[in-house]
Amino acid sequence: MATVKLAPSILAADLARLGEQVGEAEAAGADRIHIDVMDGHFVPNISIGVPVVRSLRKVTRLPLETHLMIADAPGYLTAFAEAGSDTLIVHQEAVTHLHRAVQQIKQLGLRAGVAINPATPVSLLEDILEYLDLVLVMTVDPGFGGQEFIPSTVTKIRRTRQLLDDRRIPADLEVDGGIEAHTAPEVVAAGANVLVAGTAIFQQADGVAAAMQRLLRSCTTQTS
Ligand code: DX5
Ligand code: ZN
Repeated sequence: MATVKLAPSILAADLARLGEQVGEAEAAGADRIHIDVMDGHFVPNISIGVPVVRSLRKVTRLPLETHLMIADAPGYLTAFAEAGSDTLIVHQEAVTHLHRAVQQIKQLGLRAGVAINPATPVSLLEDILEYLDLVLVMTVDPGFGGQEFIPSTVTKIRRTRQLLDDRRIPADLEVDGGIEAHTAPEVVAAGANVLVAGTAIFQQADGVAAAMQRLLRSCTTQTS
């Protein structure tokens, strides 16, 4: 079983102390920071954008992965790259010319990821898979933190892992939404190797480090 990596999602952080919270996640061993960008069009919510990525770039050494839940992702790739993103994730459902967008991300020198919503079959990624550094299987409908995990996505995670392994594609298989100590073991057993978590990391009474340990421990006790 590959090592499980944590990608804390700052959507659930205390944004008034964002630098501090990211510092806590970095000290506790986060693999990367997950930044949710929402535009009120592709998803029914508005969150944060380019200036926040630029500010975070100055306060952490961790890779910044930017999850673009926006209608016009291709129009903003350069801006998010210049702000300091290391990975850009676009949605299959939002981008008409997915191959072109993925190539643009790579030409910017960044890692390229594609996300799929719970109702989108992974078969739609078959012809782009070989170009990807990351596949993000959404385990909730995107737009909000703190939603309940959708159990039927586990089959798709398993299918995605199979596709990647069959074709020897070393891309990360990341999951996002409703990931906490009760749901993490199942997604890891299905083949996910990166867990995005917001509420389960930044909104726990015992703090960020304890929450991250709890998440990681939940997977290792079930899978080792
Ligand atoms: C949802 C976002 C997630 C969100 C996850 O649209 O993509 O990254 O922050 O939040 P939790 O972990 O609270 O479900
Ligand atoms: Zn996200």
